[in-house]
Amino acid sequence: SGEQAQSPTVVLIGPPGSGKSTTARLLAGLLGVALRDTDTDIEASAGKAIADIFVDDGEPHFRALEREAVTTALAVHDGVLALGGGAVLDPLSEAALTAYAQAGGAVVFLDVSLTHVAPRVGFNQARPLLLGNPRAKWASLMEARRPVYERVATHRVDTDAKTAAQVAREIHVAL
Ligand code: S3P
Repeated sequence: SGEQAQSPTVVLIGPPGSGKSTTARLLAGLLGVALRDTDTDIEASAGKAIADIFVDDGEPHFRALEREAVTTALAVHDGVLALGGGAVLDPLSEAALTAYAQAGGAVVFLDVSLTHVAPRVGFNQARPLLLGNPRAKWASLMEARRPVYERVATHRVDTDAKTAAQVAREIHVAL
């Protein structure tokens, strides 16, 4: 909203494969605002790919970097912000998102079913948490996180059978 000079126009949350990165890029284009993605920020600050952070340093270290990336981006970014799928799990990150929403910010949960996400998450080596059995691992992540996504979100979009362009337009209209 207009009175928030230095906070995101909209924050996208949701599980891996829900289309956050692509939708964020298209939505930023529709709105004519800047784009930021916490996964990209983490890779830049660590100087390596997320998959390598998980292997070399472990998930707890990744989550600490992610907490820093989320709280910084929420404080300074003016535009569309896409978060990593697990970014809502940290209590401090959740608190920062809740405060942003209470101040009038939009937090959009990109919801998707296993049926529609499966072809997207199948063999992506960039997603360390899904290695081995992507479908089963995604399903259990989503089951555990759904309550958090729903609690934090101000809007929910069902993305099943929609293109990222359709989802971006839907958010644009809803905002
Ligand atoms: C993660 C999702 C990834 C990335 C990391 C952990 C998660 O982002 O942050 O691999 O815990 O769900 P995407 O949601 O963009 O795949």
